[in-house]
Amino acid sequence: MDAQQLKKKYFEFFREKKHQIIPSASLIPEHDPTVLFTTAGMHPLVPFLMGQPHPSGKRLADVQKCIRTGDIDEVGDASHLTFFEMLGNWSLGDYFKKEAIEWSFEFLTSKKWLGMDKEKISVTCFAGDKDAPKDTEAAGFWKRAGIPDERIFFLPKKDNWWGPAGQTGPCGPDTEMFFDTGKERCGDGCQPGCGCGKYFEVWNDVFMQYNKNADGKFVPLAQKNVDTGMGVERTIAMLQGKKSVYETESFLPIIAEIKRHAAVKEFKESDDATVKSIRIIADHLRAAVFILGDENKVVPSNVDQGYILRRFIRRAVRHGLKLGIKKDFCGAVAESVISRNKEEWPELESNHAFIIREMQKEEEKFRKTLENGVRKFELMAKQGNVNASEAFLLFQSFGFPIELTQELAKEKGITVDGEGFKKEFEKHQQLSRVGAEKRFKGGLADHSEQTTKLHTATHLLNEALKVVLGRKDIHQKGSNITPERLRFDFNFDRKITDAELREVERVVNEKIQEGLAVTRVEMSVEEAKKIGAEGVFGHKYGDKVFVYTIGDFSKEICGGPHVDNTKEIGSFKIVKEEGVAAGVRRVKGVVS
Ligand code: ALA
Repeated sequence: MDAQQLKKKYFEFFREKKHQIIPSASLIPEHDPTVLFTTAGMHPLVPFLMGQPHPSGKRLADVQKCIRTGDIDEVGDASHLTFFEMLGNWSLGDYFKKEAIEWSFEFLTSKKWLGMDKEKISVTCFAGDKDAPKDTEAAGFWKRAGIPDERIFFLPKKDNWWGPAGQTGPCGPDTEMFFDTGKERCGDGCQPGCGCGKYFEVWNDVFMQYNKNADGKFVPLAQKNVDTGMGVERTIAMLQGKKSVYETESFLPIIAEIKRHAAVKEFKESDDATVKSIRIIADHLRAAVFILGDENKVVPSNVDQGYILRRFIRRAVRHGLKLGIKKDFCGAVAESVISRNKEEWPELESNHAFIIREMQKEEEKFRKTLENGVRKFELMAKQGNVNASEAFLLFQSFGFPIELTQELAKEKGITVDGEGFKKEFEKHQQLSRVGAEKRFKGGLADHSEQTTKLHTATHLLNEALKVVLGRKDIHQKGSNITPERLRFDFNFDRKITDAELREVERVVNEKIQEGLAVTRVEMSVEEAKKIGAEGVFGHKYGDKVFVYTIGDFSKEICGGPHVDNTKEIGSFKIVKEEGVAAGVRRVKGVVS
């Protein structure tokens, strides 16, 4: 069975269990300032886990594109990836532990579905602590399904609890399913959860029954949810009897392409460093292709998602150098990633030229300074540890992300003054990487009052731009909201004059002052189009969507949340207008 077949079976199974299949959300969360990337299937569903009704109902399933940078140092071992596909099924206040566990077991072991050997499956459950009791309930359902006591393990919160990803939000105990690869145990304590590679975690069922509030208390949720995540790449590796995700056909053509460019042609599979470099390149360029191919445009830069993208590409180029690759190869590797995935992820094909161009541009830029930079580093390393100004020089003159310098230093057994570097960086860049770091560590959607107001203001702005510029064909090309400001990209081919901007502002404020009611109606995408609702068509919507209406001024497909009445917004001000790409303008605005 390959990845495509696994996904098909999963959807077939959960359709039989009355789930609606919903499309993957973007890798770049649009309205969540607390994270840089979508890290799990539950992430785009947070408002619905908190009780907002989902237009597709209470039982959902999907495959979500995910990126986790937290595991970047583990990449290259048997199971860790930065980009991966996650299958998930959700109950939004519908079924709970019993069904979730029975269905997981049935899907994994039934001959009709994955047909895994149930003797090779072990599970972990939450051991209990001061916040929540031991999950004997989950263990009981496993026992009934046919997993004996010896293969049920109880682990603490750090292993068997999910969320909240930020400070507050839905969370709860989870139960994880492991497949035994048959590898020797690494020692006496080797059991599911041990990182040696014997036990492969393939699926996680989370029972979201608590809300962690601002006081750090775990309060039972009125709506009990199930959130599950099955790693496609890992599950396929197990089904194909492989010991690592890199030995599956999701990676083999990519790895073959990398090897084609390497100076050495005979690879010893026992050469750990070489194998690791190849795997890092394969993982990072695959992740970079999916970021560049995303519907929300990101290009390599020194901030936020663009910085992570840059890090992926530059780290791949540097590991290429370790394999003796001195000529550009990222474009060719990207081609192999696209060709392997375009059927299931058509956005890779529609953004094909953009992906290759940006990838090549970034590689060329970095290659110009890479070898000199490495030489400079070697000289510094001879003198001992790398200090802040040296690390900054490597960054500024040679384009070395700090993490790359740290990696080089680690290989030499020396250290880098990372804190000092950050200070230098902030001094020079006037921006806070600490802030960016905090964000990509993960967090839940911020549904604070401020972002809600900005969200509604964005709809008013979208409509006001059409009115003032006299162009019905203006549409959203991107949107991003932080608690401080909104950012709205749209198609328009010239600079907008100050007078026009003031007029747009005036129209938005007029609508705010009118105290228009904001209402939500559920309908199909077709119906939404028919009533003329604004939407990012071409964007993947589920069968049912919400249309938010603001008085008779605006109608727009959107997941929310929004204020109930425009008066709540207060007042709106445009703080910036600029061009971001050919034919695309960007407006930033604030409310107060
Ligand atoms: N949210 C859970 C995970 O990502 C399912 O493991």
